[in-house]
Amino acid sequence: MAPRHFLTLMDFSSQELEYLIQRAITIKSGLKQHGPVYVPLANRTMAMIFEKSSTRTRVSFETAMAQFGGHALFLSPRDTQLGRGEPIEDTARVLSEMVDVVMIRTFAHKNLEDFAAASSVPVINALSDDYHPCQLLADIQTWTECRGPVRGKTAVWIGDGNNMCHSWINAARQFDFKLRISCPEGYEPDAAILEAAGEHAQIVRDPMEAARGADLITTDVWASMGQEEEQAIREAAFEGYQVDEAMLDCADDNVIFLHCLPAHRGEEISTTLLDDPRAVVWQEAGNRLHAQKALIEFLLLGRISD
Ligand code: CP
Ligand code: NVA
Repeated sequence: MAPRHFLTLMDFSSQELEYLIQRAITIKSGLKQHGPVYVPLANRTMAMIFEKSSTRTRVSFETAMAQFGGHALFLSPRDTQLGRGEPIEDTARVLSEMVDVVMIRTFAHKNLEDFAAASSVPVINALSDDYHPCQLLADIQTWTECRGPVRGKTAVWIGDGNNMCHSWINAARQFDFKLRISCPEGYEPDAAILEAAGEHAQIVRDPMEAARGADLITTDVWASMGQEEEQAIREAAFEGYQVDEAMLDCADDNVIFLHCLPAHRGEEISTTLLDDPRAVVWQEAGNRLHAQKALIEFLLLGRISD
């Protein structure tokens, strides 16, 4: 049987995603109460292919596998044959013979699709140029923990229509909330991804107007990995799109602020925003561990009844 993959949030049903969020909350609570005593993946291994830098994603996946009783292998293209031109499909077939699950952070999303098509073990998207679905599991977990069910609520994306924005659009569809996207002209999300979301996502150019009454505000760096040489151009283009305390003041009294991190203080956020109690970014970062544990467990063992 072909394995399930997690390349975008659309690979799972809404019900499966809801299950993952609740399961992540349960796994987190078990870890806090009893320590890492739940070891369902003894001797299982995960290959982690990183073609871009990472702090949170690497540490959360590696820790998840260790706490589950398994092991994670960090594979950089610099040290593997992938970096010397061995085809993606050959690598997928070889790794499938040895490991139980593969996590990939890459540039072109097609690399992930090609790998997954040749893989007989589950493949997880740990960020591509187009999507970052694992981050959204942690983000929705955080929003749920802080404010209860997200259905019917309003989130606001300020800034670049990038990989994170695309995953927020998919999340709005799957978790049934509204997403307002405030981006400068020329930096919109992919038109097809936006259109597929229908009434779940709309562009509101003025950031203060977008923020009005919102339940959640989020943003991301203006220049993503691979766009470093556009930094100066982007800083000029995104002037007026910095999230600051005044923008949060326009939102609902119970607004929370999320940022996938790393953050650039003084660019996409004010220098003091992460010190504001409405910013829950450290809880959000920590939830990468719990949400991805729920994901790995689901891919390898299926649903667990509590
Ligand atoms: N948010 C996130 O994916 O962080 P890293 O790039 O540090 O993994
Ligand atoms: N949009 C950012 C997210 C980093 C986690 C990037 O792709 O670099």
